[in-house]
Amino acid sequence: MSIKTYCVILLILATLQNTGCTPHQDSNEVTHTLEGEEIDTLIFFAGQKLEKMLVWLENKQELPRSYSQGQLVTTNRSDWTVGFFPGMLWYMYEYSGDDKWKRQAEKWTDLLEVNKSLDWNTHDLGFMMFNSYGKAYHITGQPGYKATLLQTADSLAALFNPKVGTTLSWPWKKHWSHNTIIDNMMNLELLIWAATNGGDPIYEDMALQHALKTKENHVRNDFSSFHVVDYDKETGAVRASVTAQGFADESTWSRGQAWGIYGFTMMCRETGNLGCLEVAEGMANFFLDHLPEDLVPYWDFNAPGIPNEPRDASAACIAASALVELTGLTGNAYYLQAANNILSSLAQNYLYPIREENPFMIKHCTGAKPANSEVDVPLIYADYYFLEALLRLKHLEEPRFVSLGINKRS
Ligand code: GLY
Repeated sequence: MSIKTYCVILLILATLQNTGCTPHQDSNEVTHTLEGEEIDTLIFFAGQKLEKMLVWLENKQELPRSYSQGQLVTTNRSDWTVGFFPGMLWYMYEYSGDDKWKRQAEKWTDLLEVNKSLDWNTHDLGFMMFNSYGKAYHITGQPGYKATLLQTADSLAALFNPKVGTTLSWPWKKHWSHNTIIDNMMNLELLIWAATNGGDPIYEDMALQHALKTKENHVRNDFSSFHVVDYDKETGAVRASVTAQGFADESTWSRGQAWGIYGFTMMCRETGNLGCLEVAEGMANFFLDHLPEDLVPYWDFNAPGIPNEPRDASAACIAASALVELTGLTGNAYYLQAANNILSSLAQNYLYPIREENPFMIKHCTGAKPANSEVDVPLIYADYYFLEALLRLKHLEEPRFVSLGINKRS
């Protein structure tokens, strides 16, 4: 890239960050719609940060999760977040066609193969493997990726309890009988994909049962959500509706609400189930109606010290990506405008400078506030869904990305 082009890109980034797009509390009000050049600039920014990340990761066998006190925070390959970095590399490859991204995507995806093993025991397999191996397979069509995904889907399906109608989320938390968390909606896509790509066809029914049970018990009448529902593993009765990462059992944890919007939207796309669509819209409306002025939620919608509470920008990124898809399923341009407004606010106020050593894009995320863990930090999944949302906007202009999930599976 020439110096001149680079300067133009810096200028557009500076413009996005300093002027023009003023989000407003009413996310229905037209404020700022990201245009092609701005989207490309933000994707370029993502590429620059990923280049920095690759330098940080040289000679490491660990995956990036956050950044603290001037140091990269990494995880081993069994952490729930490990799929996001390879997923971003696949996104950059599909966007640019540049083999340098493919080589890195292959390398970091291969590192995760160990997670397919049948005794691996967590619902997070979808996050870990569908975001990495799933994209690898959709883009390359290589049978090895498919075989790994199918084996992973078998591991995930082993957590399904037919007496309850959901997959168990955290098998190691023995004080619960059969816990299911709202986040678990995100992992159903792997089961559906497997059911229609050579795996057991029953997995599609499992996924739909799980979604409908979550609709029944996690989603309240006003479309806010519980984080955790514990079921009796023998009778399927609800034993408790509680939180793990939110402020209180009755509160609404912002990222949980975002996972719900995304998960129910995806389930509507994959199954055509209108109950899922109703919940996706209801949860989206709740999310948008309860945002602060800059459209980036506090870590919990009911956090007691608002406005002096940490934000969770990761929830904004996840919701923005889901809202782009929800627009296509509902035909309601309100959701697309809301996605644009949220992304514009993130671009304006929540980006680390491009030149900083910190290899992340998005500031002010919160992992688990009650545990005082990862409060007001960058998180790899915020960056992932920010990039995905941008690509989804790009896809609306020029449909060509098979890795996005918004294309029906082949
Ligand atoms: N699924 C874990 C989280 O959202 O923190």
